[in-house]
Amino acid sequence: MSDNNFIPYARQSISPEDIEEVRQTLTQPMITRGPKVEEFEQAFAQYCGCNYAVSFNSGSTALMAAYFAANLDKNDRILSTPNTFVATVGSGMQFNATPVFVDIDRSTGNMSLEQLFLNLNHPHSRGKTVVVPVHFAGIPVDMQTIDTHIADIDTVVIEDAAHAVGSHYKDGSKVGSCNWSHMTVFSFHPAKTITTGEGGMVTTNDEQLWHRLQIFRNNGIERNAPYLQGTAAPGYYEVTALTSNYHLTDIQAALGLSQLKRLDTFVSARQKLMHTYRQELASLKNVRLFIDPEDQHIAHHLCVVQIDFQAYKTSRTAVMEALKQRGIGTQVHYIPLYRHPVFANPAGDLSEYFPETEAYYSQALSLPLYADLTYDEVRSIVKALKAALQAK
Ligand SMILES: Cc1ncc(COP(=O)(O)O)c(C=O)c1O
Repeated sequence: MSDNNFIPYARQSISPEDIEEVRQTLTQPMITRGPKVEEFEQAFAQYCGCNYAVSFNSGSTALMAAYFAANLDKNDRILSTPNTFVATVGSGMQFNATPVFVDIDRSTGNMSLEQLFLNLNHPHSRGKTVVVPVHFAGIPVDMQTIDTHIADIDTVVIEDAAHAVGSHYKDGSKVGSCNWSHMTVFSFHPAKTITTGEGGMVTTNDEQLWHRLQIFRNNGIERNAPYLQGTAAPGYYEVTALTSNYHLTDIQAALGLSQLKRLDTFVSARQKLMHTYRQELASLKNVRLFIDPEDQHIAHHLCVVQIDFQAYKTSRTAVMEALKQRGIGTQVHYIPLYRHPVFANPAGDLSEYFPETEAYYSQALSLPLYADLTYDEVRSIVKALKAALQAK
């Protein structure tokens, strides 16, 4: 099978309009730090229903910026899920904070709120707590309930919404509105629902955080009173922190703006594809999808299935290989973070503390999902999966 026929687990959708937006921007005097970046940020903030948005050159650096803005330091702890990409907590560990993993709820793949509240109640004598829920696969965590359980006013809440652009909470407000958090972080990697090639965004309603996010992006440079020690003047600036250059370019922002216009179409395409997957997979008793009673609120980013491989007398590796042979790409989201060497705990293997994460991980497989996938392709993927499982 030629590569052109290969169905990857995720793929961007680029239209002629997207290409034209990028082409036009390349003819403009400013191709970075220019008007398209500001336009993209304003349009994104408006889409999410929040006051401010600051763009970055990746979701990972956007997370670093959020932790910087929150003044994270070595005394602080990050309460987050092990079922995520390394950047969710790794970006905070770069500020020497300590990760504390919270077991998940297998019916959504998200952090278990029950377990989170146990941890929140656990005394933490040193610095502040930063709670970082990840809206896994696009399924929104119940932020309102988290908010009602946070008693300490120093606690910071940062949502990792890398998977959830276009998703809504139960009350209909958008992920990114920051109605119950200090900041929300997005990624525009090509596997995500909209793309800028590489890129990320942080949304917030707090002016001080907005200011610090911009300082982080620009090598810690400050030009404006009242933040300067000296007097503001043309050409004058002060370096207030050692960070780096994390700017998104105008070329990328032009693509982001064009993709943002298509976001609702992408969301609805993904919802319909997930519906087709559900129908096609319904006969497989040992394969389950996440429960999503709020289906219309979810901008599905991943099609994660949990397969009881033992019941089918096979393994995930064998199934992934068999699907690959038939030109179908799959992925595993995620190897629990505490299993990676970089998170190795002096106390040894931590897996017994995370029974739900472990059970989920032993069965998780992501099938292809992207806006341009066809219903016929979904049917052929499920057919190939049934063949690999020798199931009907
Ligand atoms: C949950 C989560 N957080 C953060 C990131 C980091 O985003 P980026 O790849 O844009 O750096 C990703 C990307 O894979 C992600 O899936």
